[in-house]
Amino acid sequence: MELSEYVATIKDYPQPGIVFRDVTPLMADGNAFNYACTEIVQYARDKGIDLVVGPEARGFIIGCPVAYALGVGFAPVRKPGKLPREVVEETYEKEYGTDTLTIHADAIKPGQRVLIVDDLLATGGTIEATIALVEKLGGVVAGAAFIIELDELKGREKLKGTDYKVLLHY
Ligand code: PRP
Ligand code: ADE
Repeated sequence: MELSEYVATIKDYPQPGIVFRDVTPLMADGNAFNYACTEIVQYARDKGIDLVVGPEARGFIIGCPVAYALGVGFAPVRKPGKLPREVVEETYEKEYGTDTLTIHADAIKPGQRVLIVDDLLATGGTIEATIALVEKLGGVVAGAAFIIELDELKGREKLKGTDYKVLLHY
């Protein structure tokens, strides 16, 4: 399947100079969404994954069906003030500003093998912070998966050797 047909490109959103890659048309198409999630499930299947972790907000949309298909749970990584119990947090740089991400302190049991899923890898700030959160809780990042990588932003350098899968490169 040609997934690029389901990605919309918006210039100067959310700020001048940013070329925004919008995966909502892919999510809205049953075949394309099923294909993308299945590709990620196949990548993860032999990795002994115990838990999927996905950052707000688009990481939830891809991460949850992947967790369901793998038969494991899902733990959300959220922006500050959204999780009701004790959290750990990490601040990071992104393509358009800085942000903080949080996860419940009891979301991961030490030693659990975690798959991190998000829609897109840009500068890598989000994945770097998410890896740090998982490792703070004693989790093992067994892999990561994205629908899109924006190659020239060099997010792969923030993955520091973590094995990962990408379905589309720009
Ligand atoms: C987007 C995207 C990734 C992140 C990638 O989320 O869904 O999570 O940026 O960029 P990075 O590799 O430079 O960190 P965003 O921060 O816009 O949040 P949202 O999904 O809540 O809109
Ligand atoms: N997240 C960070 N950079 C992005 C971009 N250029 N398009 C879509 N999502 C993004």
